Amino acid sequence: MTDLALRPPPEPSGLAVAVARALAGRSLVLIGMMGAGKSSVGRRLAARMGLPFVDADTEIEAAAGMSIPDIFEVHGEPYFRAGEARVIGRLLADGPRVVATGGGAFMNPGTRGLIAERGLSVWLKAELDVLLRRIRRRSDRPLMQTPDPEATLAKLIAERYPVYAEAALTVQSRDVPHDVIVDEIVATLAAHLKVAPPGTASPPGAPPAGSSPAGPGSGPQAEQGSAS
Ligand code: S3P
Repeated sequence: MTDLALRPPPEPSGLAVAVARALAGRSLVLIGMMGAGKSSVGRRLAARMGLPFVDADTEIEAAAGMSIPDIFEVHGEPYFRAGEARVIGRLLADGPRVVATGGGAFMNPGTRGLIAERGLSVWLKAELDVLLRRIRRRSDRPLMQTPDPEATLAKLIAERYPVYAEAALTVQSRDVPHDVIVDEIVATLAAHLKVAPPGTASPPGAPPAGSSPAGPGSGPQAEQGSAS
C-alpha cells in the first residue's frame, strides 16, 4: 500500500487527455462502496487525464473543520449527509475534474440527478471479500464500527448496488495495481465517448483521432487546482 502511494503520479497520456477533452466540461465522478479504491484510483486517473482531482470526503472535513468520525459522533449521520450533498453540488459546479465521492453519496436522489446533469459517473464495483479486506485495514469509517462488519457490509451492498447500477459506466475493482484499473476506466470512457486512440484512423465523418467532439477551448484544465 505505502509503496503504491509513494509511486509518482502518472504523466498525462494521449488517450486519457483526449477523453478528458471529450467530457466537454463535465466532471468524472467515481462512485462505489467504501474500499472500492475511488480516491487512490481517482487521484491517478486525474493525473493521467491532466485534470484536477478532488476527494469529496476531504472537502466535507475541511468545510466542517472536523473529521468524518467526529461529524458522525457530534452531529449524527443526517447532518453529514446534508453536508455531503452540499459539498458535491459545489464540486460539480466547477468542472471538469475527477471527483471521488463517499460510498453513501450516490444514494441521495438529488446528488444522483446533479451527477447525471453535470458529470459522468463511473461505478467502481467490488466484491464483498475485496472490500472487507480493505476496510479492515482502517478504523475511520463510522458505518463499519459494528460487531459484525461483514454482515453490515453485505447489507449495505444489498441496499446500494441496485442504485449504484444507475451509474453511466461500471468498472470492476479488484486486487490489481491501481494503474490497471485506471487503464480500464480510460478505455471504458473512450468507448463510451467514442474517442479513438491517438494515431489510429478515424471512421469517416468522425472527428480526427484523439480529438474531441467539443472542439478547441474545452481541453483539460490541470491548472485549475492541484491534486489533493
Ligand atoms: C460512507 C463512506 C465514506 C464516508 C463516510 C460514509 C458510506 O467514504 O463518506 O464514512 O456511507 O459508505 P468512502 O467511501 O470514501 O470510504
